[in-house]
Amino acid sequence: MKKNLILFCLICLCSAMTVRANDIAIIPEPVSVVPGDGVFKLTTKTRILLADDDPQLKNAVAVFAADAEKAVGKELRIEVRKPKKGAINVSLNPSLEKEAYTFVVSPDRIEVEGGSPRGVFYAFQSLRQLIPDEAFDQPGVAAIPAVQVEDKPCFSYRSMMLDVCRHFFTVEEVKTYIDMLALHKMNTFHWHLTDDQGWRIEIKRYPELTTVGAQRNQTVVGRMKEKDNTYDGKPYGGYYTQDEIREVVRYAAERFVDIIPEIEMPGHATAALAAYPWLGCTGGPYEVWPDWGINNEVFCMGRESTFEFLENVLSEVLELFPGKYIHIGGDECPRDRWKECPDCQARMKAEGFTDEAQLQSYLNHRIEQWLNERGRSMIGWDEILEGNGVSKTATVMSWRGTKGGIAAARMGNHVIMVPFTHCYFDYHQTKTPDREPLGIGGYIPVEQVYTLDPYDSLTVNEYPYILGVQSNLWTEYITSLSHIQHMVLPRAAALAEVGWSYDRKDYARFRKHMERMVKLYTRCGYNFAPYMFEEPQDENSAKEVSADE
Ligand code: ACM
Ligand code: ZN
Repeated sequence: MKKNLILFCLICLCSAMTVRANDIAIIPEPVSVVPGDGVFKLTTKTRILLADDDPQLKNAVAVFAADAEKAVGKELRIEVRKPKKGAINVSLNPSLEKEAYTFVVSPDRIEVEGGSPRGVFYAFQSLRQLIPDEAFDQPGVAAIPAVQVEDKPCFSYRSMMLDVCRHFFTVEEVKTYIDMLALHKMNTFHWHLTDDQGWRIEIKRYPELTTVGAQRNQTVVGRMKEKDNTYDGKPYGGYYTQDEIREVVRYAAERFVDIIPEIEMPGHATAALAAYPWLGCTGGPYEVWPDWGINNEVFCMGRESTFEFLENVLSEVLELFPGKYIHIGGDECPRDRWKECPDCQARMKAEGFTDEAQLQSYLNHRIEQWLNERGRSMIGWDEILEGNGVSKTATVMSWRGTKGGIAAARMGNHVIMVPFTHCYFDYHQTKTPDREPLGIGGYIPVEQVYTLDPYDSLTVNEYPYILGVQSNLWTEYITSLSHIQHMVLPRAAALAEVGWSYDRKDYARFRKHMERMVKLYTRCGYNFAPYMFEEPQDENSAKEVSADE
């Protein structure tokens, strides 16, 4: 009888602990989560106490404080003072890596430490996920479960790209996208700012880039591969002023997100050519492209005036974006015009080039050197490996699968893995796309994203060349923020686990924890795709991805 009672008590204790452990669902999965006893009661009296009077530390707690305010019904006070019982005490711990953090939630206090303010920010992104959803329905007291968490990311580069050229998104919408990045502990926003269908960044020296290049006369209707294109006949456009760009950069920095601007060259340049026809080999006329796909009109590589233009544009870009990296595009550049252009051919002859691909390498090397002289580093899509190849200091973004990234890493170049097989969030998420909002094609369910191995076939000593991962959202068929969110959420969470929790991935656990995470999405007002919670589809389905969409 007594033995049975002990057994009963043990079962109760174990199930209570299981319930508590299940309550603690943090995405991306931390290094270590040890549930404790009891709860910390977050109330209107709770204060956040910072060890240092550091504006960065204030930024690191601000997002949590705003969220907590909604849970308790009143603004939480943030003060600079010594740690206290009953408070959330925040300090820096230089023995931790910069993005690492720890926190201990106990009934009488929460202690948070970060290797830097960025690490503290991530601690509070995790803590946000521990505020129970009920608290937001009935603000007052929010019970945060006792727990000890230790955490740091596996990869230093974790990012999502947004194309604002095919469709334009406002400053407020871009800020929401940055919030979504920060929520998933991503640290980089790749902003695709120029393309055939629109030039979206004000450049003071070349006003027609935006008075002409930011506006197209109409847009093709329906899917790209359908014949007999029809057009909507409606002018479409938009761009960011330099002040707006600065505002977004500031907003991102407050959320510990660096922005990488992408200025496409030498292809995807029709909008620039429409503004300044002397930039193209034929001299035009050109129009801001109303179609999707790859346009033959590209920057002329023969004339010095093109390089002068690109350097002048980049000078203003450098003023606006303080980060290390500038993305120069480089993808999908047809070389037909260069073959027929006397200026391009003259440069080829002078340089001893035998293949037009070498002209693109010439551009890459020249622009990279120019950027390096100004203390910046160049990123390009994996086409920059073609022709005469790249210098050791260029970073390669591998989108046509992982092959280019693997080759680049083996040559000693830094690589960001963004293969279209896993990271293209414009692809459909189910095998029945008719019930989904419009996508570009393909099939990348959440689980497919989750299976990405950024190291692929590399050996351990080559691993350090892989900086991390990124998703790409091309917006040919995406016209609203709500549609963006449907495409990105919850695939962003899967990508976040690849980037942050690579060595502890477990899809079953992830799927379970996502049930909590989507409640947070709802709380934030984000739309998300529900498909990952449906019955599993056939087990081979996640491996089938159309390569040419
Ligand atoms: C790309 O998808 N063209 C980089
Ligand atoms: Zn030319």
